[in-house]
Amino acid sequence: MKIIRATDYKDMSRKAANIISAQVIMKPNCVLGLATGSTPVGIYEQLIDWYNKGDLDFSEVTSVNLDEYRGLRREDPQSYWHFMHEHFFDHINIDPDRINLPDGTNLDAEEECRRYDDIIHAVGGVDLQLLGIGHDGHIGFNEPGAAFELGTHCVDLKPETIEANKRFFDGNEDLVPKQAYTMGIKTIMQARKVLLVANGKDKAPIVKQAFFGPVTPEVPASILQMHPDFTLVCDADALSLL
Ligand code: PGA
Repeated sequence: MKIIRATDYKDMSRKAANIISAQVIMKPNCVLGLATGSTPVGIYEQLIDWYNKGDLDFSEVTSVNLDEYRGLRREDPQSYWHFMHEHFFDHINIDPDRINLPDGTNLDAEEECRRYDDIIHAVGGVDLQLLGIGHDGHIGFNEPGAAFELGTHCVDLKPETIEANKRFFDGNEDLVPKQAYTMGIKTIMQARKVLLVANGKDKAPIVKQAFFGPVTPEVPASILQMHPDFTLVCDADALSLL
């Protein structure tokens, strides 16, 4: 595990964007595993800036996103498909045919999860997986207690996650979907490189627990300690308990 200390959110975003940028430059047809949430937004902004300056070319890149709410259409403003287009894909030259997310409208969970795992397999696996971390240690929608050996699967969201995400649904938890399709821990661990970003004092306890505590399914991100090429980029606040 490599730990990169950043001063603040902007610095964290730039350092993480540098790692993604290096991946795209070294392997223009790479597969990027991408994440939603508030933490990666600054990374996407930085990558867009470098793209606009002519420093990055995403035309051969394939993306596979971590997760999607089950039941939401792509056009829904709360879908992760929408989030990724708004914050990243609409601003770069990625080929729309190479953008992959689980399809929330396919309610046949078994079929959809198989389809998504087949895509990841067909594109040759993930070269670099970007992750955020939830306050309970979740990565993607792999909540505490998630089995380490799962590929893409359908999860029931925990009440805490619904509570944390209702800010995106006009604060109304009734509007938050109750299930999601997510890459599993096995899928994430099979990525050649993993990059996790965290910022803010509120993330300090979970950063300490996940990366300096025992490896346990109760803290899903803790398994990343075992990944052969795992980089953690945090601002000073997120590292303040270490
Ligand atoms: P956040 O979410 O980036 O909005 O803090 C992280 C996560 O839940 O994975």
